[in-house]
Amino acid sequence: MSSVVATTAVRGRFLDIQNTVAQAREIHDQVRYVEDGLLISQNGKIQWFGSWQEGQQHLPVGVEVQHYLEQLIVPGFIDTHIHFPQTEMVGAYGEQLLEWLNTYTFPTELQFSDKAYADQIAQFFVQELLKNGTTTALVFCTVHTESVDALFEAAGQHQMRLIAGKVMMDRHAPEDLCDTPDSAYADSKALIEKWHGKGRNLYAITPRFAPTSTPEQLAKAGQLKAEYPDVYVHTHLSENKNEIAWVKDLFPEQQGYLDVYHHFGLTGSHSVFAHCVHLEDAEWDCMHQTDSAIAFCPTSNLFLGSGLFPLNKTWEKQVKVGLGTDIGAGTSFNQLQTLNEAYKV
Ligand code: GUN
Ligand code: ZN
Repeated sequence: MSSVVATTAVRGRFLDIQNTVAQAREIHDQVRYVEDGLLISQNGKIQWFGSWQEGQQHLPVGVEVQHYLEQLIVPGFIDTHIHFPQTEMVGAYGEQLLEWLNTYTFPTELQFSDKAYADQIAQFFVQELLKNGTTTALVFCTVHTESVDALFEAAGQHQMRLIAGKVMMDRHAPEDLCDTPDSAYADSKALIEKWHGKGRNLYAITPRFAPTSTPEQLAKAGQLKAEYPDVYVHTHLSENKNEIAWVKDLFPEQQGYLDVYHHFGLTGSHSVFAHCVHLEDAEWDCMHQTDSAIAFCPTSNLFLGSGLFPLNKTWEKQVKVGLGTDIGAGTSFNQLQTLNEAYKV
């Protein structure tokens, strides 16, 4: 009897994605719409999905069907770039990226050395994602290992799929928010061993962005990626014009911003670069050749006045792109609201 109790059946209108843009040219080959469908799941896993007409024969005896014929049922949303420690600072007033980081972001993130505080925000964060229909997210923590433990523990309680990592940052930030190349390597390695592939958790090596890591630290990040090829890489790229000029000053030997990451072995099919508003042509080519992906963060790009992301370029250059809320420079946890702004851009 217990399997019957754990079985749910939902009848309604369903929409899902069957192929990526790369796999199918026409929209109706990518998206499936079932006007009157049935989804049967057991212990939280889908057992059968298809039309109501065909599906009735698969219904176990005694299972009550829940009817949602007026609603549209879609798969959980995937947020490709979000900062959980910035949950409380959405809407910090009136600055562009570099001033915003120093004035609001770094002071906020200092609080996450306190595990109890990190736990409290992590719980709220995970619930806020679920409330908005997001079931998978690629998440920045802070430099503190406590923040990563807090987040993965909260995610596990809610069966969420999170990909997250400890920020690596050893310069141009308050001393208490800085690690070193060696400690960033050792802490990240220990966190990979502890969390990557445990339950639904996955790890992302997370250098904050090129200006806050020395070349020595980026080399350590690359070493980690070589040792653990199936972990993700998650960082920021070409968000703001002053940021880009700063990177060119800091890394004169490299050919541009993306080349800094590429040089240290941080591009690839598991690498996600947030923003990419001002990429140069050679960088678009490198993104394509390395199969790296972009997190498009429209509310954040608008809020910080970073610029308008050239979405058409991703199709022209065949570069993978996903949607990111980028809380707390972004202004909503809600992916539909974020898509609304993406459309206007
Ligand atoms: N670049 C480096 N750090 C950050 C951050 O926290 N938010 C955004 N939007 N960009 C960044
Ligand atoms: Zn970000």
